[in-house]
Amino acid sequence: MEKGKCRVCVTGAAGFIASSLVKKLLEKGYTVHATLRNLGDASKVQLLKSFPHADTELVLFEADINRPNEFEQAIHGCTFVFHVATPLQPSDASQFKNTSEAAVSAIKSIAECCIKSDSVKRLIYTASVCAASPLKNDGSGYKDSIDETCWTALNLSLASSNGFFKASCTFYYLKTIYQITIAKNSVCLLLGAG
Ligand SMILES: NC(=O)c1ccc[n+]([C@@H]2O[C@H](COP(=O)([O-])OP(=O)(O)OC[C@H]3O[C@@H](n4cnc5c(N)ncnc54)[C@H](OP(=O)(O)O)[C@@H]3O)[C@@H](O)[C@H]2O)c1
Repeated sequence: MEKGKCRVCVTGAAGFIASSLVKKLLEKGYTVHATLRNLGDASKVQLLKSFPHADTELVLFEADINRPNEFEQAIHGCTFVFHVATPLQPSDASQFKNTSEAAVSAIKSIAECCIKSDSVKRLIYTASVCAASPLKNDGSGYKDSIDETCWTALNLSLASSNGFFKASCTFYYLKTIYQITIAKNSVCLLLGAG
């Protein structure tokens, strides 16, 4: 990535992965447009503002995945966009029926903003290895090889009484449907985090 006065947008900037990314980008001389859901959250704002060069090179924006258009302002003028924010809890105030629908709507809106902008060269999304699976769709065994068509089955059962399993299935579904959407739009480099 070129540096200089290059601007980089990082969504969900106070999260575990994104906050390290913001710190690294600032250290390397980038100007960072960081989004948080709530700019009134002092602990998250303070964390980001404590990073070296944040006083001059960090710009904070409020944006929530449940209101996808809010990301436009943060993306404006950026060369790179890292979409790291992920909704894990449903919001009562959301117009969407679940987190998957909200997340898919957000990535579409963010991708459209990037395409419309005259500046964004690359949109990077933090993927998860749990969205990929070598299993055949009917569960009858494994495919001979793994490629970009090998997604985790979307009909993974939620019937188990185990709370952790249910939460995992919801997460797998979210990451998988999200990444299938991204792959169909062919605008993103996928980054496989653990
Ligand atoms: N950590 C890992 O080991 C790991 C492994 C595999 C994949 N990943 C992927 O990497 C990404 C980041 O993971 P992480 O561990 O850093 O997660 P995290 O610490 O939970 O951070 C997620 C961020 O998403 C933001 N967020 C949640 N709901 C939102 C909403 N409705 N609108 C806008 N932002 C929202 C939160 O923002 P606020 O701070 O504003 O609340 C939070 O900072 C995720 O896509 C995750 O699936 C992580």
